[in-house]
Amino acid sequence: MDRPRVVVTRRWPDAVEDRLRELFEVELNPRDVPLDQSALREAFSSADAVFATVTDRIDAQVLSAEPLKARLIGNFGVGFNHIDIAAAKARGIVVTNTPDVLTAATADLAMTLLLMVARRCGEGERELRAGGWSGWRPTHLMGTQVSGKTLGLIGFGRIGRAVARRARHGFDMRVLFHDPFPPGAEQIRALGAEPCETVEALLASADFVSLHCPASPENRHLMNAERLARMKPGAFLINSARGDIVDEAALIEALAAGGIAGAGLDVYEAEPRVTPELMSMENVVLLPHLGSAMRETRVSMGLKVLENASAFFAGEAPPDRVV
Ligand code: DGY
Repeated sequence: MDRPRVVVTRRWPDAVEDRLRELFEVELNPRDVPLDQSALREAFSSADAVFATVTDRIDAQVLSAEPLKARLIGNFGVGFNHIDIAAAKARGIVVTNTPDVLTAATADLAMTLLLMVARRCGEGERELRAGGWSGWRPTHLMGTQVSGKTLGLIGFGRIGRAVARRARHGFDMRVLFHDPFPPGAEQIRALGAEPCETVEALLASADFVSLHCPASPENRHLMNAERLARMKPGAFLINSARGDIVDEAALIEALAAGGIAGAGLDVYEAEPRVTPELMSMENVVLLPHLGSAMRETRVSMGLKVLENASAFFAGEAPPDRVV
């Protein structure tokens, strides 16, 4: 049988691209320039599978490609809000993602943001690199204590729970969470976490609020002006999930007004654009969507796409089927 033809929309780690060449008749993207909408549409007409990432907007228009050849979207990533799942389903296209392998990396990054913003690490590094450091002094760049404080997790899936583990066991934090679909009581007890019925109840008590819910239509602007105003004065917001869970304009107002102490962000509403006001705010740590960006993790993510695709083309159930 001919090898399936696959279009890979971005550059992947070398080791995985080698494997891709062995398994498929593959069209890689060595220049790593994102495909525009018409190139994506063309990929669905010419390939048996499209291996996509968060930077591809796979909307109903792209999925209306005629003739349609692709039967599989292998998403390199766990979040799939950039894919119109209903349209994929309507066209009989299977979608897979890469859960589990990026849980630790993303949880580590959420803790990195939390620590960086609390301890004013971005400010300190900028000052030092600019040659502005005059030496140690008792009142220099005093930050906020993390250990023993209260962390509120909105979303308590794999990544939220991995953050809970780090916060509880590494930093002796009290951990609250809100999730409409919580894990079992045993898992919650093992993590020493406390459920909150509502987001508002969590916001009233948390010194740090970290977002780990999916980017669904219901969660769009979940952190809006009203909810930001309900955070404790002096609290910090951490977002390593998806940009549109936070109303970025409302966040900027809350930060500028001193309603909250700071924010640590890895994701933005209109990536790769970052709202310019954020760039000049000292109490904000800004990272360029690095959640899963570890060599080991990115290789595992790629291999997971291949595992799913190999199962699919062998006529078996892909282990990480989303639809
Ligand atoms: C993920 O896996 O969701 C990362 O954010 C990249 O898409």
